[in-house]
Amino acid sequence: MHLAITGAAGMIGRKLTARLIADGGLGGSVITRLSLYDVVEPPLPPDWTGAVDLVAADVGSPASAEVVVAGRPDVIFHLAAVVSGEAEADFEKGYRVNLDGTRELLDAIRRAHLSQGYTPRLVFASSIAVYGAPLPNPIPDDFPATPRTSYGTQKAIDELLLADYTRRGFVIGVGIRLPTICIRPGRPNLAASGFFSSILREPLVGQEAVLPVPEDVRHWFASPRSAVGFLIKAATIDSDLIGPDRTLAMPGVSATVGEQIEALRRAAGDGAVALIRHEPDETIMRMISGWAPALEARRARELGFVADASMDEIISAHIMDELGGELPRH
Ligand SMILES: NC(=O)c1ccc[n+]([C@@H]2O[C@H](COP(=O)([O-])OP(=O)(O)OC[C@H]3O[C@@H](n4cnc5c(N)ncnc54)[C@H](O)[C@@H]3O)[C@@H](O)[C@H]2O)c1
Repeated sequence: MHLAITGAAGMIGRKLTARLIADGGLGGSVITRLSLYDVVEPPLPPDWTGAVDLVAADVGSPASAEVVVAGRPDVIFHLAAVVSGEAEADFEKGYRVNLDGTRELLDAIRRAHLSQGYTPRLVFASSIAVYGAPLPNPIPDDFPATPRTSYGTQKAIDELLLADYTRRGFVIGVGIRLPTICIRPGRPNLAASGFFSSILREPLVGQEAVLPVPEDVRHWFASPRSAVGFLIKAATIDSDLIGPDRTLAMPGVSATVGEQIEALRRAAGDGAVALIRHEPDETIMRMISGWAPALEARRARELGFVADASMDEIISAHIMDELGGELPRH
């Protein structure tokens, strides 16, 4: 089986690649070739001995979409995107990568379908940023997408394209609306949601973190582990069970910032909590005021998508996966 990943050098892309290599297969088929794409050439994954393509390609260009499709991968995980803060700051770049990039990819697939009957599965990483206030709690599966950011708008349009290209038979599209991924490992990125991770990640290793919003802000989370599990499930699930609405809202953990902080206290004590500095930021508060507090995710749960059980489990997963199973002494 030949798998392609766009955005393969990103956080989820790297974790997905590692999990696929560890599993050795996908849905019962052996993985024989991996094609990894990103704006920067993705690193050679350790422990991989099969065929591999490591390609620097800008998905916003038609030529790159052709390159991804040229090898006729059986499954394409389309993760390449400009994150929310950057898409808001750079309007043109956001639309070029997040909208045009997806459209170019779908259209390259369509052309290959029409000329050679090529019909891959395309797993698309959408986001709960497609929802816009006022929002019920929890948000039901049939709640309309009314995004309030450019990033959310781009993802919502992508979801419609995915459904239409699937309806026309060009591709087998499966979109997943990922919760905010927490705890995001590594360095902070330009996502406006970054503080949800940094207020846990930094104190866990004895470093200060800034909290720009009040503690009663509630949001919807999943661990990187769960995100990878969702992508693999989306790649292997019986496509006929999904129906014409090709994007599924993913399960997760609903927690307030205060509840995150209490989970941090249980994991690492009062000293860790004391490292969080409260510095209100009007811009971030305005951006996140309309964000999803919780999702019903009934369709996804019924189809077998499983998320973390609690914020404590999310923190434990981070300690296990990123810190070697224990907190550093400081
Ligand atoms: N992390 C989250 O909380 C979250 C939540 C919801 C949805 N998502 C979606 O999941 C996907 C992966 O997210 P992530 O957290 O790994 O983000 P990330 O920023 O770590 O990775 C995205 C990757 O896309 C690449 N990219 C950007 N522009 C590109 C271009 N023009 N051509 C090719 N590659 C390009 C970047 O270089 C980066 O490596 C994205 O589509 C994101 O929108 C993430």
